[in-house]
Amino acid sequence: MLILGIDTSCDETAAAVVRDETTVQSNVISSQGIHQEYGGVVPELASRAHLTLLLPAIESALQQASCEPDDLDALAVTYGPGLSGCLLIGLSTVKSIALALDKPLVGVNHIEGHVFAGRLAGTRLDPPFIALVVSGGHTQLVHVEDWGRYRILGNTRDDAAGEAFDKVARLMRIGYPGGPVIDRLSRNGDPEFLDFPRTYLDPQGFEFSFSGLKNAVRMYLSKRSEDEIDRDQAHIAAAFQEAVVDVLVDKSTAAALAAGADTILITGGVACNSRLRERMTVKGAERGIDVVYPPPILCTDNGAMIAAAGAYRFRMGQRDGLSLSVHPRARLCGSNGSNGSKGAD
Ligand code: KG4
Ligand code: ZN
Repeated sequence: MLILGIDTSCDETAAAVVRDETTVQSNVISSQGIHQEYGGVVPELASRAHLTLLLPAIESALQQASCEPDDLDALAVTYGPGLSGCLLIGLSTVKSIALALDKPLVGVNHIEGHVFAGRLAGTRLDPPFIALVVSGGHTQLVHVEDWGRYRILGNTRDDAAGEAFDKVARLMRIGYPGGPVIDRLSRNGDPEFLDFPRTYLDPQGFEFSFSGLKNAVRMYLSKRSEDEIDRDQAHIAAAFQEAVVDVLVDKSTAAALAAGADTILITGGVACNSRLRERMTVKGAERGIDVVYPPPILCTDNGAMIAAAGAYRFRMGQRDGLSLSVHPRARLCGSNGSNGSKGAD
């Protein structure tokens, strides 16, 4: 079975071909450098960039997979959550292609896509497991009882972890996206240089909050001169990162123990973080929990994860018509085959 997967939910224009649900034949990601000078994604610019980049990305994905459009069994596309204009470009493009080729269309929830990154060859997880979906838009702990059957354990109440990385990097004026920059800088920093707050909310619960930490960094920076900030950049970055990682590691481990799960999947852009990988692996070994990460290229937004989730949904009989619309605030909920509440927009 050959599925083309498209994701345009934020600032990556992504197209990929996946064979037999788990084998990545191609995975084309056109990153939009245009947002760097603004220190964050500018939705209107992202939509326009998708418009220019999407068809070439689809053509390359087909070419790299040595696949003719006619060979495809179905087209999968993210309908939400994400930026509405960006989602619209992806969905309307894929609808037109599906119509022109007379191929089935399958709408995919982006968060379910991140979970399915764990099913692609190389990782090949089998449920049940706990997934920590941690990206620029989401921080969510999910008990994956089976593919397509999810119990949501907790969400962020304010900023997502990746959003906190991006905002702190902007406050520190060190570039966008902030996660990779802070990760790199922190390798030369002392995580104990400062004791930023760790927000656990209900210690027994699995909800997250990162805006207090972001504000603590903001307050700290506002009281320091530019020279001091420059001098201590690596230490400040490392201390901030450690505060995020502490909470993610503790809550994920507690969720696995509470659910009796012996495996944790860490997925989404922040799953690329080297300190999170290191700390989670150590903690997992202490607690007898397997910690699994897709390769970084499948952690950040990509089309292969959408194709993988779409392939599964297609096999389960899901077909979406041309009336499928975007759902910018779609949530992953779902048991018994529903791939998410479309949510209120
Ligand atoms: O999954 P993703 O590509 O897009 C969303 O669905 O949001 O995640 C992007 C996020 C950004 O906030 C970026 O700063 C963060 O992932 N990120 C990282 C790292 N690489 C990307 N955060 C921490 N450490 C990294 N190495
Ligand atoms: Zn994402």
